[in-house]
Amino acid sequence: MKGIILAGGSGSRMYPISQVYSKQLTLIYDKPLIYYPLSVLMLGGIKEILIISNEETIPYYHKLFKDGSHLGLSIEYVVQAAPNGIAEAFILGDKFIGSDSVTLILGDNIFYGNLDFFYQGIEHNSGATVFGYRVNDPERYGVVEFDKNGKALSIEEKPQNPKSKFAVPGLYIYNNEVVKISKNLKPSPRGELEITDVNNTYLNKGELRVEKIGRGVAWLDTGTPEALLQASNFFGTIEDRQGLKVACIEEIAYYMNFISKEQFEKVIHQMPKCQYKNYLENILTGVE
Ligand code: DAU
Repeated sequence: MKGIILAGGSGSRMYPISQVYSKQLTLIYDKPLIYYPLSVLMLGGIKEILIISNEETIPYYHKLFKDGSHLGLSIEYVVQAAPNGIAEAFILGDKFIGSDSVTLILGDNIFYGNLDFFYQGIEHNSGATVFGYRVNDPERYGVVEFDKNGKALSIEEKPQNPKSKFAVPGLYIYNNEVVKISKNLKPSPRGELEITDVNNTYLNKGELRVEKIGRGVAWLDTGTPEALLQASNFFGTIEDRQGLKVACIEEIAYYMNFISKEQFEKVIHQMPKCQYKNYLENILTGVE
């Protein structure tokens, strides 16, 4: 299973900082937003990762993650020339995906809580697996309609009159067919290759699983400055209460056995004196 993080876009809602880089570099409490989706892929056991973004931001991601080997990962980078749609990720990622299956996560999507829904999705996927999450404002998302047995009937992108309260979060698991399906897509009226069209192709073939995510999981939106502040407060509160960090990629790499104790020690050693380093030193020495 390969992993793609789509982390570009025009980010116009984040002006003025969007003139410099894309919003996935914004701090959510104590670490850049992109750490959160990256940590989800890592917890899913995915070690080969492609980051897709615009030309201006790729050098910053590269500075942050390099080739990923210090985390036991292999990280590659590809430029998306313009925000032509989420499904373009599979066309740009064609060579990277090769003959594998692939999980795509949007670089501004945060998941927190019990991730069993994701682990099971990876384990059981044969065609495509997407998720349904109850929200108050479904019209802002892809919306899935279920029949009374919980079977998905349709997915509509940002419908004016949503048929349910269930949004499709930006976490998608596909078999290798997704590359061919994406290459055959036509741009939507808003000029984008829509992920919802990919999902509907699978749905029409009877190969789409839509799993509901329970209310104990937080799926946070980071589309607006208010939402970014809410997310920062949320993780600040949790981390302060527990004394544990969320989405700390070095800790996850060690916990997942992607790196040895010696490698973990080396990674920590290279950090400047800071609270983030102190935290990891305590993990290393087993202080809890
Ligand atoms: O967040 C989940 C939703 O994401 C889904 O429910 C929708 O079905 C899906 O279309 C998408 O909707 P958004 O309106 O949130 O998509 P947005 O254009 O904001 O893009 C999502 C992220 O992907 C954003 O961080 C920017 C990045 N992106 C987007 C596009 C279209 C790219 O890097 N390149 C792109 O071409």
